[in-house]
Amino acid sequence: MEEIEARLLRAISETPQAVESDAFAKSAGVEHGAVVGLMKSLLTSDFVTAEEVPHSRLVLTAEGREYLDKGSPEAQVFAAIPAEGATKGELKRKLGALADVGLSQAMRQRWVAVDKAPAKAPASEPAAHGNAGKKDKKKDKGENDRIIREADGIVDEVQQQLHAVVSGQALDAGVAEALRKRKLAVAEAWKTYRLGCGPKFALERRRAAADLTADMISKGTWRDKEFKQYNFDALGRPPACGALHPLLKVRAQIRKVFTNMGFQEMPSNAFVESSFWNFDALFQPQQHPARDAHDTFFLARPATTPLERIPADYVARVRSVHESGGFGSTGYGGPWREAEAEKNLLRTHTTAVSTRMLYALAARGFRPARLFSIDRVFRNEAVDRTHLAEFHQIEGLMCDEGLTLGNLVWTLQTFFKRLGLEKLRFKPAYNPYTEPSMEIFSYSEELGKWMEVGNSGMFRPEMLRPMGLPEGVNVIAWGLSLERPTMILYGIDNIRDLFGHRVSLSMVKRNPICRLGYSSGEPGGSGGEGELTPAASR
Ligand code: PHE
Repeated sequence: MEEIEARLLRAISETPQAVESDAFAKSAGVEHGAVVGLMKSLLTSDFVTAEEVPHSRLVLTAEGREYLDKGSPEAQVFAAIPAEGATKGELKRKLGALADVGLSQAMRQRWVAVDKAPAKAPASEPAAHGNAGKKDKKKDKGENDRIIREADGIVDEVQQQLHAVVSGQALDAGVAEALRKRKLAVAEAWKTYRLGCGPKFALERRRAAADLTADMISKGTWRDKEFKQYNFDALGRPPACGALHPLLKVRAQIRKVFTNMGFQEMPSNAFVESSFWNFDALFQPQQHPARDAHDTFFLARPATTPLERIPADYVARVRSVHESGGFGSTGYGGPWREAEAEKNLLRTHTTAVSTRMLYALAARGFRPARLFSIDRVFRNEAVDRTHLAEFHQIEGLMCDEGLTLGNLVWTLQTFFKRLGLEKLRFKPAYNPYTEPSMEIFSYSEELGKWMEVGNSGMFRPEMLRPMGLPEGVNVIAWGLSLERPTMILYGIDNIRDLFGHRVSLSMVKRNPICRLGYSSGEPGGSGGEGELTPAASR
């Protein structure tokens, strides 16, 4: 195109105001549209002036294009008539709707005529026999008239004219009118441009480069390039990167709630866990239904984590508490199998992380702790609009001497209040690893009902004592899902639109920051704004 531009500028300088865009396009062997594009860009740089020249040209209709291809209807009719002639009916069957137009045109041209001599109807024309024939003859408006050729040969001038139209040849005004009347062509308005020198006309337009390329450096062409100036007034461009997913934003806020309450985050990045840490260390019986492959994803490779990796005395104490109890418990009374505890799985709850942390805390020598995690867990579940096979759990725990159920209630009220949930109610529940256990319900003003928002409890001595946590040290803990509060905050009603392969990236890019209803935190204190009403856990 640069070469064409140079040619165009030369042509304009030689005969200003006389270069016509269409003629130039033809002489340069390019499309008219390409010259118009070039002209527009030259216009904006004030290189040229352009004056519109209106034109009208014929273009073929669909019907015209068909006859260009197959011949005019009259020519088709002529070609369809054999030496012995044919009836109108036969022609219609052969040519369809074309036959009528073709016949009348062909007759006007005297290419064909109706045979006046009475002919014997051929056997294939049953309509010409007897009464039925007579009856049909009235109805068929000359269907059985025999048409014969009158000319020896013909020249399909219409087809030639159509050809002249598409190849842009000049047509006689009468011919053009006839084609328009037959609706084989229509007039179409179009424009060309007469080009002249603009105020900044020159024979060469040097395009300033926007970027210094590797090529320019290696070839040394940068030396005689002109570079575009920086435009510091440009509006800029919004970056497409770095948008946080809603789950990450809500996680960041919940993390803030925990840290403001003095909690430290646990390292929760190991998704693969052994059954020992996910179940056995939590005093979850080996026959528990959650340990079935229908509920848990077990790993095929590596299928196990050898128990040798865990201090033998701890494993022995866990075995003993399962088999025969202790610490005021009778245990489960059956054999505890190592093979079961060695099975690898995708952790089903972040309580596995809490368990490892509590064991580490005991091993280092007990000190009070407030810990939390917000990370991914996996359950072998049927996926529906509220359930996924992987989701995120929020989990908090406090470990200290003499903690009571009253401390758990205060902690839950403080925590959930900071999430915007003020009205809480607790219901006794069962977890293998907590006693007592409480489900947490929150009243949704919006829905006018109590919604389950989490699960909690005090870890059992059967879990804590084998770790070596001293007598008198208790752990209060609770858990909830990250997805449900996020869905409520962002108004997402199908979990698959929040997480997984169906998530739309534009949802991630465009969503605003939704804040949890935040408050001073002490139960009974003044409430926060923008409440998160029906949150929940699983
Ligand atoms: N692990 C529990 C769950 O998966 C949550 C929970 C955590 C319950 C801590 C009690 C104590 O739902």
